Amino acid sequence: MGRLVTIRTIDWEGSIPGRVRLVDQTALPGEFRILTCESSEDVWKAIRRLSVRGAPAIGVAGALGTMLAIQGADEEELWERLDDAVEYLATARPTAADLFWALDRMRKAGESLRGQPAGEVKEGLLREALSILNEDRARCHAIGRHGSRLLNDGDTVLTHCNAGAFAATEYGTALGVIFRAVEEGKRIKVIAGETRPLLQGTRITAFELKQAGIPVTIICDSAAGGVLQRKMAQAILVGADRIASNGDVANKIGTYTLSVLAREHGVPFYVAAPTSTFDLSLANGAKIPIEERPPEEITHGTEGRLAPEGVSAFNPAFDVTPAGNISAIITERGVIERPDRERIRSHFAEAANPVPPSS
Ligand code: MRU
Repeated sequence: MGRLVTIRTIDWEGSIPGRVRLVDQTALPGEFRILTCESSEDVWKAIRRLSVRGAPAIGVAGALGTMLAIQGADEEELWERLDDAVEYLATARPTAADLFWALDRMRKAGESLRGQPAGEVKEGLLREALSILNEDRARCHAIGRHGSRLLNDGDTVLTHCNAGAFAATEYGTALGVIFRAVEEGKRIKVIAGETRPLLQGTRITAFELKQAGIPVTIICDSAAGGVLQRKMAQAILVGADRIASNGDVANKIGTYTLSVLAREHGVPFYVAAPTSTFDLSLANGAKIPIEERPPEEITHGTEGRLAPEGVSAFNPAFDVTPAGNISAIITERGVIERPDRERIRSHFAEAANPVPPSS
């Protein structure tokens, strides 16, 4: 089985001191531009303006951004810098759970190193940040392995936004499932929703799939109903930004609409996400903070103003899909069919087997 080569989205360059290198996704597909971040402020801005985006990638960026903040600190400054960086980077975007999960790991790793010389603390924190990065790669491949069995040879899959290599460190979650199914020899086609207003589907998902040689057709988001009515897709497969303990899923705006359409048309609706995207502290999706982005993303296009002067725009970046609309959630541990509080609880309680060995 040949493995598809997908893009490396974000990496650490050097040791200590080092820098963060990431693909500037705002420039895609026209330009494949590498952005170098030298400070946690650079990383914060890269997350906020979506140069790096997608829940797992944001988490990795947060961990590496923390390293940038502390690597030049002396013994006295180190702990304050670590606390400040964790707090500061958490303000970059509010919805993706992976950012808070990764920052929490950095904070806890720091705590476990208290009392050691600054140089050793920094080395330990770099090890933790790189583990977060490398684990993400492994998790995406595991999600692909578990999820591919849900797709049949000849299926056309409808996806939304970008949950591919660019949304993680490589391979991706929802697209990882598709990549794996193709690697196994299944003939899969993809319909990608454009994903207004920032067009992650048109610009990024289509770019990735084309690079991998997987047939992809883009549609206006509003065409999804007609596409399902015409039986043009056999499954819907998306990523997630945060999953509550009852299985409600926050993902890119428009995902909820797709889940309602899936129910109406009897099409399975799958969510692929690592366990780092779950927020088990939340009882349900109503508690997930939903980012609101600037109205100009809607009122203006690349050529300038589209809407009449003075017209307001409401621009939530995410919506919440109720667990009841979801056929299965695929994680690196396996598949949670018809997710609910009990099934999610036992998925997390199962014997520690976070990442099955690579194959
Ligand atoms: O605003 P974005 O582009 O960061 O939104 C990303 C998504 O909604 C993805 O579907 C989600 O993060 C899953 S990525 C594996």
